[in-house]
Amino acid sequence: MILLFLISLLCMQPTITATAPTNETDRFALLKFKESVRQDPHNILSSWNDSMHFCNWLGVKCGRRHQRVTVLDLQGHKLRGTLSPYIGNLSFLRSITLQNNSFYGEIPQEIGHLFRLQQLYLSNNTLEGEIPSSLSNCSNLRFLYLRVNKLVGKIPEGFGSLMKLELLWLGKNNLVGGIPSSLGNLSSLTQFNVAENNLVGSIPDAIGQLNGLVTFSISDNNLSGTIPSSLYNVSSLQIFSVSSNQFNGTLLANIGLNLPNLQLFHFGGNEFSGPIPTSLVNTTQLQLIDLSDNKFLGSVPTNLGNLLNLFLFRLSINYLGKSLNFLTSLTNCSRLQSLGLDENQFDGVLPNSVSNELNFLFFG
Ligand SMILES: *[C@@H]1O[C@H](CO)[C@@H](O)[C@H](O)[C@H]1NC(C)=O
Ligand SMILES: *[C@@H]1O[C@H](CO)[C@@H](O)[C@H](O)[C@H]1NC(C)=O
Ligand SMILES: *[C@@H]1O[C@H](CO)[C@@H](O)[C@H](O)[C@H]1NC(C)=O
Ligand SMILES: *[C@@H]1O[C@H](CO)[C@@H](O)[C@H](O)[C@H]1NC(C)=O
Ligand SMILES: *[C@@H]1O[C@H](CO)[C@@H](O)[C@H](O)[C@H]1NC(C)=O
Ligand SMILES: *[C@@H]1O[C@H](CO)[C@@H](O)[C@H](O)[C@H]1NC(C)=O
Ligand SMILES: *[C@@H]1O[C@H](CO)[C@@H](O)[C@H](O)[C@H]1NC(C)=O
Ligand SMILES: *[C@@H]1O[C@H](CO)[C@@H](O)[C@H](O)[C@H]1NC(C)=O
Ligand SMILES: *[C@@H]1O[C@H](CO)[C@@H](O)[C@H](O)[C@H]1NC(C)=O
Ligand SMILES: *[C@@H]1O[C@H](CO)[C@@H](O)[C@H](O)[C@H]1NC(C)=O
Repeated sequence: MILLFLISLLCMQPTITATAPTNETDRFALLKFKESVRQDPHNILSSWNDSMHFCNWLGVKCGRRHQRVTVLDLQGHKLRGTLSPYIGNLSFLRSITLQNNSFYGEIPQEIGHLFRLQQLYLSNNTLEGEIPSSLSNCSNLRFLYLRVNKLVGKIPEGFGSLMKLELLWLGKNNLVGGIPSSLGNLSSLTQFNVAENNLVGSIPDAIGQLNGLVTFSISDNNLSGTIPSSLYNVSSLQIFSVSSNQFNGTLLANIGLNLPNLQLFHFGGNEFSGPIPTSLVNTTQLQLIDLSDNKFLGSVPTNLGNLLNLFLFRLSINYLGKSLNFLTSLTNCSRLQSLGLDENQFDGVLPNSVSNELNFLFFG
């Protein structure tokens, strides 16, 4: 009887350690992480040895109570290697900051086990493969920075359930497919950046529900269609960047009144048409207006003198004309550095009062 009991105890041992990870699990996972780093030119991981408790290893922080790893911060140490799947065993992790290194290979889907994770910074590495859909299970995630990598595949539909997500930066990868409309559920989102990918399709209407959005950057993709009118209702927008896609349609006449906080307005390199709305003069925070390389026509609003922060104003390659009367009001914009008017249908010559102040002038 006793023997049987002892045997069953022995058999249960592995199950116990697997379901209840301990500080030893963390130590082991960190050593596995170290093992998959192939190059460490500054030898920073040599401090990861038994002469010190792992909570004192460089880049590691633990919670005081449980002595479990809560932060792994090894950014910018020129580390080269893969990301060990054992990272998914650091079950108390809140923050992973490994940006500005040379990690390659896939993002282990085991990261999806880290339900306490709030920050995942993996930008500026050479990570490949798809974004693990298991990340949709990290329901406490607030900051997700994966920009500047070699990720392929689609933006996971399931990201729409990350209700605490504030920053989603996936720019400069090789992502394909569309912008999932489920992202319209991310009511905490303030920054959305998927620029410089190969995304196709149109902007889902649901994106207009993100009423705290400050940055919306989708430039340099193959997106098309019109800008949904719902997006012009997101009055918190400061950076509105859709340049170098295939968007068409006209600008909302009331744009300047709907988006009073607009600072950077990148709409160049598309197929937008129609007039430049005069309401733009009401967006007094504007620093940059790029409408170049589109099919805009008609005259340029003449009362631009309230745009005191404007430093770049590009209208090149459109069908704008004929009067240059708007230039008089531009003399008020003392920060203006760059003015692009070339390849339009303007008549007349540029007054010296305008051109003398500029570093860059394209006219002709
Ligand atoms: C792990 O936790 C146990 C029990 O709380 C403790 O006795 C042990 O010293 C800890 N080990 C490390 C490496 O922190
Ligand atoms: C172990 O780490 C300590 C610092 O934490 C360092 O001084 C020592 O050289 C390391 N030992 C080895 C063998 O790298
Ligand atoms: C930790 O993770 C690895 C790989 O994901 C797994 O094989 C291992 O069983 C896990 N558990 C422990 C306690 O290390
Ligand atoms: C990427 O990281 C390297 C250092 O590892 C740094 O020199 C480079 O400027 C970074 N690039 C970006 C785009 O942040
Ligand atoms: C990466 O490195 C660059 C250049 O050193 C720096 O400007 C940037 O802030 C770093 N990025 C992150 C996310 O730490
Ligand atoms: C999320 O977690 C649940 C429960 O653990 C699991 O069934 C599901 O497959 C996970 N989803 C993803 C996308 O990994
Ligand atoms: C999110 O939005 C999509 C479509 O907009 C909807 O079908 C879904 O039920 C919403 N909820 C979650 C949690 O994704
Ligand atoms: C935008 O807001 C206006 C005024 O609140 C409202 O009438 C209109 O229906 C909204 N448009 C969209 C597409 O949400
Ligand atoms: C928009 O700007 C024009 C010209 O400066 C001004 O007359 C008008 O009152 C402004 N409208 C609003 C709603 O601020
Ligand atoms: C020039 O700017 C001042 C504010 O500094 C403003 O009061 C004035 O109306 C502006 N002039 C023009 C022509 O817009």
